[in-house]
Amino acid sequence: MSNLSSMPIADYREKYNLTALLETGTEGGFGVSIALRAGFKRIYSCEIVFDLYNESMEKYGDKKEVHLFYGSSLEVLPAMLDLVQEDKVLFWLDAHMTVDEKGLYREEDRFPLARELSMILGRRDCKEDVFLIDDIDLYTEGFGMSEILKMFPNHFYEMHHPTESDKTLMLFPNI
Ligand SMILES: C[S@@+](CC[C@H](N)C(=O)[O-])C[C@H]1O[C@@H](n2cnc3c(N)ncnc32)[C@H](O)[C@@H]1O
Repeated sequence: MSNLSSMPIADYREKYNLTALLETGTEGGFGVSIALRAGFKRIYSCEIVFDLYNESMEKYGDKKEVHLFYGSSLEVLPAMLDLVQEDKVLFWLDAHMTVDEKGLYREEDRFPLARELSMILGRRDCKEDVFLIDDIDLYTEGFGMSEILKMFPNHFYEMHHPTESDKTLMLFPNI
């Protein structure tokens, strides 16, 4: 179950006039289904594991609102960001991998958040966007909450933690 389900994202969409949701880490498409239910008309999501991408394509490939990308966020984010240039975006940054038994993926692709943020902030003026960063406790050594907050001087933050182990950092525009 996606942590997105316990957040009032339809309210955020209305309050901040958000017109698109961009997710990293599609997994089985739960986040996509919640975004659809919340009324987002433009939903972009990427997944590094081909079978998971494929599974989501089978479920949502025919939905005109949904645009799925296969590949690491670090490779496909530039193309995704080009498509939301005119939008105010809810970023749902949820790509990470805690297990990689076969050593298939590079460390930077397994925990891409720092590079995702640099890429996004380097390519757009984010002051009207909302960021939801899941599993924030995964990021500690060298890059964690305090480094992230410094990247968002025009946002205020709240923490969402429906359970002790599930913590999402929420960054809202100061408008
Ligand atoms: C916690 S799950 C995502 C859950 C989903 N966002 C939801 O709301 O239900 C994390 C997913 O990120 C994927 N992932 C890990 N590294 C990635 C990367 N660099 N780019 C894209 N997806 C990645 C994993 O394969 C996994 O499916």
